[in-house]
Amino acid sequence: MNINRFKFWAVAALFAFSSPTFAEEARSAEEGKKLYEANNCGSCHALDKKLVGPALRGVHERRSEEWLVSWVRNNKKFRESGDPDANKLYQEYGGAAMNIFENLTPAQVLNIVEYIKTAPAPAAAGPKVAVDATADADKSDPSTKYILLILVAVFSIVLVVLARVKTTLRKIAAEKSPEDYPTVDANRKFYQRFLPKSLANMNPVVLSIFITLAIGLPAAWYGYKFSITEVGVQKGYAPKQPIAFSHKLHAGELNIDCKYCHSTVEESKSASIPALNTCMNCHKGVQLTDKYNGEISPEIKKIYAALDYDPEALPGKEFGSNPKPIRWVRIHNLPDHAYFNHSQHVVVGKLQCGSCHGPIEKMEVVQQWSTLQMGWCIDCHRNTGIDVANNNYYAALHTKAKKDVKDNENHSKYFGPDGNVKITPAMNGGIECAKCHY
Ligand code: HEC
Ligand code: HEC
Ligand code: HEC
Ligand code: HEC
Ligand code: HEC
Ligand code: HEC
Repeated sequence: MNINRFKFWAVAALFAFSSPTFAEEARSAEEGKKLYEANNCGSCHALDKKLVGPALRGVHERRSEEWLVSWVRNNKKFRESGDPDANKLYQEYGGAAMNIFENLTPAQVLNIVEYIKTAPAPAAAGPKVAVDATADADKSDPSTKYILLILVAVFSIVLVVLARVKTTLRKIAAEKSPEDYPTVDANRKFYQRFLPKSLANMNPVVLSIFITLAIGLPAAWYGYKFSITEVGVQKGYAPKQPIAFSHKLHAGELNIDCKYCHSTVEESKSASIPALNTCMNCHKGVQLTDKYNGEISPEIKKIYAALDYDPEALPGKEFGSNPKPIRWVRIHNLPDHAYFNHSQHVVVGKLQCGSCHGPIEKMEVVQQWSTLQMGWCIDCHRNTGIDVANNNYYAALHTKAKKDVKDNENHSKYFGPDGNVKITPAMNGGIECAKCHY
């Protein structure tokens, strides 16, 4: 027996004996489901479909529990220990490496296996209820609509002027040679010439009410719908992107963590857009040839073209020397005079992406969910409770609040209408101009 392998089994046996949970503790599929989701196994695996890794249903029949524990916790070490099945599997998947999950205890891995074992098989494809978050997203920047309105107004004025010029010219011509221009009805009013007979003979008062309503009602509706405050506000903006990348698929169905791609969101001001190399972690392998009769998906080809990558080339020569960056269309964009910081909100404020960006994981095409106006920032700073007790960032504020409450000084401001403690970013200076403006 290979010495490394011997060492491995010795350690595994020790582990099994020293940790009674391994064999005895009741398995919980429910716990397993949570772990499966929390560790994003689903970003590479599905139960009934091969994605980046194998379909996992029935895996407990192909592999022993010890094997599964060793594989999931550290497949690299396991392969290096010389396990033939592990190495064979790795080769089958073209060296696409699975992550290391040493954070999981053996008992937790077995809970995941229990979940896989007991998860219900998919129902026969029922009617698919697609949540189309982009349905009414197709209003482009509203200010273009105002430009259109102004153009229509200018055009109408030009038309009226031209009409007047024409009548004047006609008058002059008629004076010169009256026989060519039979006189028009002298009693006919100016406006009557533009209207069909039936309307032209109406009582002028009734007519003007009629016309006012006909133009006024749609205009009022329009003004209400695209109220003037929305000029320049890009809420709902959902431009077409150069690659048909879908958050609904990647962040929703495949359940890939937002931070896998927007990797700087916890450390910096900006959330960042991923480099195409991040896509290649999967799309070197995922080419969807089944879907396109043996051809590589045209959308995936765009990734390859941008990286100057040739999937047919010899190993080591796949990447050419002429990459061209993909120009994603920027959606969210605050004016330069406003300062916004992601890490402050996501790490210190513990806010979910969705509280500002909406259900991105259901959007086929990303759209701007919030107005990003100043009032939106301030409202949330006035109304969101923050957990000052468990965060050093708020130590000073917390001390002051405790003292105020003890001395019975302005203490009511620290409590919400329901009588529970409520401290907001606004109390921490979150509505001071200088916090958001340079
Ligand atoms: C980054 C992608 C990725 C993630 C995340 C991932 N896996 Fe894997 N997994 C793979 C790949 C790829 C393989 C196939 C072997 C290889 O190439 O390493 C695999 C193989 C497996 C196998 C062996 C299947 C078989 O048929 O023998 C199991 C079990 C497994 N993964 C479970 C998990 C669990 C549980 C999680 C979450 C804790 C997880 N994987 C997360 C990519 C991933
Ligand atoms: C597989 C990678 C990937 C994952 C996972 C992912 N994104 Fe994205 N995201 C992108 C790419 C690429 C773009 C740029 C193209 C686009 O707008 O669709 C983007 C764009 C965005 C934008 C718009 C950026 C702008 O231009 O203003 C937001 C907001 C966003 N993602 C939020 C999220 C959230 C929230 C999640 C998790 C629920 C998430 N993303 C998960 C890759 C990803
Ligand atoms: C963790 C793995 C993973 C990552 C990272 C990833 N994808 Fe995907 N992507 C997939 C899988 C799996 C599918 C196919 C799902 C299916 O079976 O339909 C897919 C499908 C697609 C499709 C649909 C192709 C078609 O023709 O239907 C596009 C486009 C795409 N991905 C673009 C991207 C881009 C761009 C990035 C990087 C910003 C990216 N993906 C990152 C796993 C990934
Ligand atoms: C408190 C509200 C808020 C939260 C929470 C939030 N964002 Fe944002 N996000 C914004 C604003 C505002 C912008 C526009 C920033 C700018 O233009 O400078 C933005 C822009 C972005 C962009 C475009 C690139 C950039 O950084 O400007 C991406 C991608 C993004 N957010 C992803 C995320 C992800 C992923 C999360 C969760 C981990 C998240 N956001 C959480 C408000 C938020
Ligand atoms: C969904 C709620 C929410 C929205 C929307 C929001 N914020 Fe915040 N903001 C918070 C929370 C919670 C904190 C407290 C976390 C902290 O102190 O860092 C915070 C803190 C801040 C701080 C730090 C204040 C301090 O304590 O020093 C700044 C600056 C800030 N936000 C700017 C903005 C700007 C600019 C916008 C709008 C573009 C915005 N925020 C939108 C919830 C929000
Ligand atoms: C929580 C963050 C925040 C605070 C606090 C804040 N602002 Fe703003 N302010 C913004 C954002 C974001 C914008 C850009 C969005 C917009 O135009 O509505 C903005 C825009 C503005 C504008 C330009 C308006 C326009 O229509 O372009 C002025 C002027 C302004 N702020 C003044 C102030 C003053 C004065 C204060 C203090 C009383 C203040 N702001 C406090 C976030 C903030």
